Amino acid sequence: MVGKMIGSSASPNGSFTSAMTLTEEELTCVPKCYILPPSLRPNGAEYNTCLPIVDLSYLQHPLLRPQIIQEVHLACKKFGFFQVVNHGIPISVMKDAIDAASEFFNLPIEEKRHLLSSNVHDPVRYGTSLNHVKDKVYFWRDFLKHYANPTSTWLDFWPSNPTGYKKKMGNYTVAAQKLQEELMEVIFESLELNSNYLHEDIAEGSQVMAVNCYPACPEPDLTLGLPPHTDYGMLTIILQNHLGLQIMDRDEKWHSVPLIEGALIVQLGDQMEVLSNGRYKSVLHRATVNSEKKRISIASLHSLALGKKVRPASELVNEQHILSYKEGSFSDFLDFISGEDIVEAKYIDKLKINS
Ligand code: OGA
Ligand code: NI
Repeated sequence: MVGKMIGSSASPNGSFTSAMTLTEEELTCVPKCYILPPSLRPNGAEYNTCLPIVDLSYLQHPLLRPQIIQEVHLACKKFGFFQVVNHGIPISVMKDAIDAASEFFNLPIEEKRHLLSSNVHDPVRYGTSLNHVKDKVYFWRDFLKHYANPTSTWLDFWPSNPTGYKKKMGNYTVAAQKLQEELMEVIFESLELNSNYLHEDIAEGSQVMAVNCYPACPEPDLTLGLPPHTDYGMLTIILQNHLGLQIMDRDEKWHSVPLIEGALIVQLGDQMEVLSNGRYKSVLHRATVNSEKKRISIASLHSLALGKKVRPASELVNEQHILSYKEGSFSDFLDFISGEDIVEAKYIDKLKINS
């Protein structure tokens, strides 16, 4: 087959071409605007150490609970990342959510175009890369982002095509919100805070679903699905159907996150780094792409409500641990990414107090 290149229609000039469209064209090379500078390419250097897996069923056993809290503590300290099994969300609910997402991205572009938006403040938006209007180089990803908690407020904004989307995604988002509330209790306990800390703020917190589609890519070594970044919130729960996520450890080495049937990925975000006054750090992660399979991931991003400021817990500020972060909200983060290129600048760095 002769390598097919497409020109202006896929260049970062503000016009819109989805990654799904490019895959359907059966290109043998990625268009130029997807080629990353060598320093940003995935370059295959990754490590296969054991990443932490936590079995949440043990939390119910009074004798085993302290051990699980300790495992969570170590995972949060070392990586800001762990996977959970026996988390209580049925496999069928997870599978339905992946199917609904997949069906959405498979729709013809005419069915999705009305949701296209480059305004990060919109409650529902479909797009490609990070922001097709602003990006200097493109990432091999299509996405649908929408708010979820509480579903009664947001469901009307969600896509009504495919017809099963609201029901299937709705079941998953409610379950993910509940799991998030349980995980926050465990994480607070692991920080020696009261497990009910911020209880109401967390129940009323913001939940953004980042539904991602990474189609098969002809040259996966030259591009990424998402560049290295940290998530803005308290924590993110990720459901994935194939390999592709990588996390960076404290020695700046990349690790592929293994695919474990039925498991969910938990990542700490910037708000947790602030709240813990730096005891825990948000995890730097990126999404790689592959030449064979379309990958779907559903990231449920949990933060305090849009305008609520998060600040270091007073219990975690003392002489040994001086106040190290300024307060910030989800809304402040949105203002930040409206003005900055996240490939170049990190929001958490704006919140650090330099001693
Ligand atoms: C995200 C994200 C990772 C993935 O949406 O913020 O990091 O594996 N996704 O898709
Ligand atoms: Ni992320």
